[in-house]
Amino acid sequence: MIRLRNVTKTYNKSFTVLQRINLHISKDEFVFLVGPTGAGKTTLIKLILREEVPDSGSVYIDKVNTRDFNENQTSKLRKNIGVIFQDFKVFNRSIYENLAFVLKIQGEKKKIIKEKIDTVISLVGLEKKLHLHPFQLSGGEKQKACLARAIINRPLVLLADEPTGNLDPDASWEIMQILSKINQQNTTVVVATHDKHIVDMMRKRVIALHGGNIIRDQQLGKYNHEP
Ligand SMILES: Nc1ncnc2c1ncn2[C@@H]1O[C@H](COP(=O)(O)OP(=O)(O)OP(=O)(O)O)[C@@H](O)[C@H]1O
Ligand SMILES: [Mg+2]
Repeated sequence: MIRLRNVTKTYNKSFTVLQRINLHISKDEFVFLVGPTGAGKTTLIKLILREEVPDSGSVYIDKVNTRDFNENQTSKLRKNIGVIFQDFKVFNRSIYENLAFVLKIQGEKKKIIKEKIDTVISLVGLEKKLHLHPFQLSGGEKQKACLARAIINRPLVLLADEPTGNLDPDASWEIMQILSKINQQNTTVVVATHDKHIVDMMRKRVIALHGGNIIRDQQLGKYNHEP
């Protein structure tokens, strides 16, 4: 589903963040991306989204090389990739309106909009909060709303960049359970995180970045290397 071939990424032509990275993430995998701050986790996520392009090497999504994509192809690509960040960006409207907005732009019919919203809202468990505004929600609930928005179009891939960064352990765990459910419904999930507790509990594939390289790629991995 996601393949990187010899990907090198430098910023300002001098600072190499990722060096000849080779990586393959299959359809339906759940992967943690770990590594110290500045290791290049967010950069890797941006390369997958084509918000950044490699200096050399290629990124393939669903077997297609995204290197020479034009604007139109890039926006299509992003429709197939849901993304959430640490800082829960939602508009200052009700959750329902936030979700409907995405679908209205795409010209969806009212009935379909309602069906799609019902489905994702029950997946994230926010049925009772549907008509509240962001300022009326807890951090965990806001993150669930972002998740709902990220998956409303059933993307092939969900990228989560430190999705539990601002949450307490219980709320973090809930978000992980939802990500797991989304993964079981045939979405490839990639989570960049510093959350050792979560990674150690989940025992998924762990890819560790350091000094521009993948220093570990382990099935049923933990946050730190354990031989
Ligand atoms: N647009 C940019 N221009 C210049 N340097 C950048 C840019 N974006 C990122 N960097 C640098 O690239 C390196 C990797 O950044 P990145 O955000 O990918 O790290 P990260 O692993 O996500 O870190 P964190 O865990 O703190 O989120 C950092 O040293 C950062 O300063
Ligand atoms: Mg980051």
